[in-house]
Amino acid sequence: MIGFVHPNTLRKQGVLGINQRNTDFIMRYNPRHLYPLVDDKLTTKSLAIKAGIEVPRLYATITFDHELNTLESLLNKYHQVVIKPAHGSGGNGILVLGDRIGKFYKTAGGDLISLNFIKHYVSNILSGMYSLGGLPDKAFLEYRVKFDPVFNNVSFKGVPDIRIIVFKGVPVAAMIRLPTSKSGGKANLHQGAIGVGINLASGKTTYAVTGNHITTMHPDTSHTINNLEIPQWEKILMIAIKCADTVGLGYLGVDMVLDSELGPLMLELNARPGLNVQLANQQGLKINLEKIDQLDKIPKDIMQRIDLTRSLIKN
Ligand SMILES: Nc1ncnc2c1ncn2[C@@H]1O[C@H](COP(=O)(O)OP(=O)(O)O)[C@@H](O)[C@H]1O
Ligand SMILES: [Mg+2]
Repeated sequence: MIGFVHPNTLRKQGVLGINQRNTDFIMRYNPRHLYPLVDDKLTTKSLAIKAGIEVPRLYATITFDHELNTLESLLNKYHQVVIKPAHGSGGNGILVLGDRIGKFYKTAGGDLISLNFIKHYVSNILSGMYSLGGLPDKAFLEYRVKFDPVFNNVSFKGVPDIRIIVFKGVPVAAMIRLPTSKSGGKANLHQGAIGVGINLASGKTTYAVTGNHITTMHPDTSHTINNLEIPQWEKILMIAIKCADTVGLGYLGVDMVLDSELGPLMLELNARPGLNVQLANQQGLKINLEKIDQLDKIPKDIMQRIDLTRSLIKN
């Protein structure tokens, strides 16, 4: 670790605080009636498919306890799967599964778990253990993403995800989150993943932050994590814009993963994206948000909007 980020330093650089994010952006630009489109991952997935946005393939949905009987045959059919709560967040309730070894299934973290354990786990998802407000939920099984080899040295047993903040249909900030030994195959910052800023114009990583500390290397692999070029950057920006157009939220967090065979896939959308992207970029969001807000008109054309991102946002 090479430094400590003092909140005062960031405040001077136009950092957006949680209250202002809520009142000036989320409340103003995200109509409540649109939340269900992004708060349920199954709804988001089907909307994306209709809009031609690629997502990890849905294998099965489990709604009722009696459907737990189908789990074994599903797991036999699809070897590498991820099980998720439809209303989950922050990486909670996500089980990343690998191959079956004898009677057991291997998790991304390397643990061996039994079918009974998985059934119990899914039953907990259904009971609402991981859903907002503890309401009954659905569980689903989807294709397990094989991450792009570019991340071999900077990811620990999990798939990094790319978060783009899109304001009024224009990408204004980005970061990549890298799983660590702590984060158990998930790229969520609260689970211990590292946030690394991305220069919007070049698609190269800038600063990396764990907690409040700036770092330049991955804690598990010891490889450098800045100046890494994210492949297919322009395509990633295009998908982020398409997602914003599809759900109609003015202030949106788009999460994507990069599959080694399928390319960029959209994982989920967030109507209340966190503010850590500012720490990861060592740059406040306000400047870019205000620049976009001051424009009389946002072009419809996606490439023109990407140009706007590139020209307005000089990292
Ligand atoms: N299909 C998948 N294949 C591999 N890893 C996944 C997959 N889906 C999720 N993950 C891992 O779990 C993390 C959290 O998943 P996500 O769908 O974003 O749910 P949450 O709302 O809990 O953040 C991702 O950042 C990624 O690291
Ligand atoms: Mg997520």
